Amino acid sequence: MGETNARTQRTSMKGKFLTFEGGTGTGKSTQIKKLAERLHVAKLRTIVTREPGGSPGAEIMRYLVLSGMGKLLGPDAETLLFAAARDDHVRTVIEPALTQGIWVLCDRFFDSTRAYQGSLGQVAPGVLNAMQRVTIGDLKPDLTIILDVPVEIGLQRAAARRGSGAPDRFEAEDIKFHQDLRDAYRQIAAEDPQRCVLIDANAGADAVAAQVWSALRDHLFAIPNAASSA
Ligand code: TYD
Repeated sequence: MGETNARTQRTSMKGKFLTFEGGTGTGKSTQIKKLAERLHVAKLRTIVTREPGGSPGAEIMRYLVLSGMGKLLGPDAETLLFAAARDDHVRTVIEPALTQGIWVLCDRFFDSTRAYQGSLGQVAPGVLNAMQRVTIGDLKPDLTIILDVPVEIGLQRAAARRGSGAPDRFEAEDIKFHQDLRDAYRQIAAEDPQRCVLIDANAGADAVAAQVWSALRDHLFAIPNAASSA
């Protein structure tokens, strides 16, 4: 796609792009579901998607990375798998939806790569920047909600959700990994306060949903009156 075309297309996008981030067991999927219901009531066309995955091609990459196969290739190559998944997801799902005025709620996006592969996987910032340029160009979330809970609580929630199933490639990392991950997300939130809102998610789902909603009201101006009274 030519640079001018890309710019023209993006400036004409009308949907809002919201991403949800956080470590294991922070409650992202519960909050995304609640927000999608609320936006639906407000008559805003909305889709829910996730990374890695969200498109048929990217779901194949999801299987590879979460099985741990990507880890065998080393940090840079594993990061490339996430990038390949994102490239397909952005091109085939996210950008077409935004262009049609649809709101996109995405469970994880490039901040996950920055936190997991960048801060923890020791992939160099230059490598991450290059991948970001190729996969998402200048597409940036309008708002990123970062859910924050103490690591022990997040891991307990994840274990309860999983039951007798095995932890995935990242859940299986040690407690220090999860503590560092929490710190990495807090740092991302601090560095980009225009885009990111850090929310204390160590509360009931409805209380957290209320905080998510006020973050939307504070950061996104285009919510119709009907939405604020929903
Ligand atoms: P998922 O089951 O969706 O985890 P969660 O419920 O914690 O969101 O698994 C996605 C895993 O992939 C998660 O552990 C984070 C990791 N991940 C990365 O390491 N880099 C990325 O760029 C993305 C999108 C996810």
